[in-house]
Amino acid sequence: MSSALFSPHKLAGLELANRIVVSPMCQYSGNDGCANDWHLMHLGMLANSGAALVVVEATHVERHGRITHGCLGLYSDDNEAALERVIAQCRHLGTARFGIQIAHSGRKGSSQRPWEGGGALPRNDDPWQTIAASPIPFGNNWHTPREVTEDDMARVQDAFVRSAKRALNIGFDAIELHMAHGYLMHGFMSPISNKRTDQYGGSLDNRLRFPLSVARAVRAVVPKGIPLGARITGSDWREDGLRPDDAVIIARALHKEGFDFICVSSGGIAGDIRNPTTPGYNVPIAERVKKEVGVPTRTVGLIIKPEQAEEIVAKGQADMVSAARVFLDDPHWGWHAAKALGAEVRRPPQYARAGPKLWAPAAAKA
Ligand SMILES: Cc1cc2nc3c(=O)[nH]c(=O)nc-3n(C[C@H](O)[C@H](O)[C@H](O)COP(=O)(O)O)c2cc1C
Repeated sequence: MSSALFSPHKLAGLELANRIVVSPMCQYSGNDGCANDWHLMHLGMLANSGAALVVVEATHVERHGRITHGCLGLYSDDNEAALERVIAQCRHLGTARFGIQIAHSGRKGSSQRPWEGGGALPRNDDPWQTIAASPIPFGNNWHTPREVTEDDMARVQDAFVRSAKRALNIGFDAIELHMAHGYLMHGFMSPISNKRTDQYGGSLDNRLRFPLSVARAVRAVVPKGIPLGARITGSDWREDGLRPDDAVIIARALHKEGFDFICVSSGGIAGDIRNPTTPGYNVPIAERVKKEVGVPTRTVGLIIKPEQAEEIVAKGQADMVSAARVFLDDPHWGWHAAKALGAEVRRPPQYARAGPKLWAPAAAKA
């Protein structure tokens, strides 16, 4: 039986060996936005995980667009050189292709690393003025952001374009814009966080105006063959927030701007809202986006078992699946999924002896 999960997939000009993507995961471990040996180890580990594509963590377009003091950026020559060193090694020694997520934290910036508490940076820890669609904090005890001005929009859009160019210089195989999880772009889209009364607030069309302008500007500098996509929210998980119907409209608008793929995630718009905890909770929303928009679609969220991932792709609910935490728990998850599904996966030659032959004697005995 052939596996849908392990079938190849073409995304714009990029040939992917299978449908498994390592989801972007902040490591909060950079130095003024620069990647270092932690990232080399972390991404190097994931480069040989069996996933066809590894997406590098949210990498921020300006210094004050980072989430924490440890977040990565692509706002300086030093940032670019540091990430180039890491990615060159990972590409040289790994089997995966590499994408990057570029982002701006908006009102969730100026915060502590999760293991330092994850709240707003205290006064003695070099906090900064955050910006957002409206001057409403993310939650209790969070910084109050300053409302984004048109000058901010021009600067941030330019910063996205410059970071995308830096990502291309580094040689990334794919680029995605972070338009989910409550950060700046999602904050504009959601009626929970956007209370503006100008042309950037009110109707969904208005709330999409700035994010789509950024999307258009980035598309203009990313060559057609390089897949450019966005991670969007499928639901804000609150009555007065974005819903799956909106996700379909957002995905359609991005696809019209020439975006090659959409990753459907959800949640994160306000501090007091929790995501569902059911396996594959975003899958039905991704299925709608894929079927109603006809754009290559990825999804994420509690996709843990190989059989579950296989079913999502086999049933055509999504073209690709992302997973985050399972890859930290089991950095060879892709190998183990291949074994479970009777499929092949590329391993580096140094590790070839851990291939199917290792399991053949046990299978013969069974
Ligand atoms: C340590 C960690 C860091 C994360 N950082 C990012 C990030 O940089 N960008 C992003 O879009 N999602 C980020 N996420 C969310 C994951 O990409 C993923 O969407 C989420 O964990 C649900 O998938 P899972 O159930 O497979 O873990 C992060 C998750 C974890 C656990």
